Amino acid sequence: NRLLVAFALLTGLLLTGCAGDKSILDPAGQAARDIAIVWWVMLGFSTVVLGMVTLFWLYTFKRKEVTRTPDEERRIARRWIVGGGIILPVASIIALLIFGVPTGQRMLTLPLSDPPEVIEVIGHQWWWEVRYPGAEGGEVVTANQLIMPAGEPVDFHVTGADVIHSFWVPRLGGKIDMVPGHVNKIRLEADVPAIFGAQCAEFCGTQHAQMHLYVEAVERDEYEAWLAARQTDELSSLAVNDQQHEFAREAFMSHCASCHRVAGLSTGGEGPALSDLGSRASLGAGVIAMEEGAVSTWLKQHQALKPGNKMPPHYDIDPATLESLGAWLETLTP
Ligand code: CUA
Repeated sequence: NRLLVAFALLTGLLLTGCAGDKSILDPAGQAARDIAIVWWVMLGFSTVVLGMVTLFWLYTFKRKEVTRTPDEERRIARRWIVGGGIILPVASIIALLIFGVPTGQRMLTLPLSDPPEVIEVIGHQWWWEVRYPGAEGGEVVTANQLIMPAGEPVDFHVTGADVIHSFWVPRLGGKIDMVPGHVNKIRLEADVPAIFGAQCAEFCGTQHAQMHLYVEAVERDEYEAWLAARQTDELSSLAVNDQQHEFAREAFMSHCASCHRVAGLSTGGEGPALSDLGSRASLGAGVIAMEEGAVSTWLKQHQALKPGNKMPPHYDIDPATLESLGAWLETLTP
């Protein structure tokens, strides 16, 4: 009948949320699996409570009138309030806490005999700074892409640069707040190499929704090669020894260098590091896909594509210069 069809449609609609690169119900690591179990248990528990309440509600229609003294009425009412209104909820909540709190505990960065890799993630309005302080040969800095080793725990040290953001890789676990002036830590692990979506999970201003982070777990040796290719020396030779783009490089130095770091050219400032920009999956923290010409499109239209972002509009730079800047920045890929 019609009710069943509606129920099936609704269930189907709800289950579409179970897949995808940002689904907590499609866990890819132990922490996320624990969270998914808590989620399913809480769903089951709430369903039982809903069922009980519905049954009681239906029962009130069927119930025959019985005559009781006011004293009896009061006693029965008190029993229901104490039992159903206090004891049952308190017992349920304690049971769920006993079940749920250890899940959070397991994501703490407790000391291990073999200290895990540390990756620092800093939330900005509205992009992600990612730093690898443990990289051999010096710290590696990138933005809006996070490459991590698979099959081993990784400690994420997170903070905020301006307001509170929240670091969340739903298929791996979390989330955890990124608070300015304070470092929060969480331990996550990806079972196997894969690409995950991540998202800022704390409202942080107009472009909060456009604060995506590309997360990729790779094999250990691939991870090390990725880091090695991003050593400052490697990157600076890439940026400096390119005769073809001298004009763009000069434009960069006069218009962009005070905010953006490019290894070998500028130490940057408030904006995301661009030393390996060409290797990113997207621009604007997930606003447009990286493809040929994407950077110059972004440079010309970024305020239309991501209104309110902190890079000023480039009215003062002619389109030809922006195109050559874009073409050069796209070549910055190790
Ligand atoms: Cu950053 Cu929301």
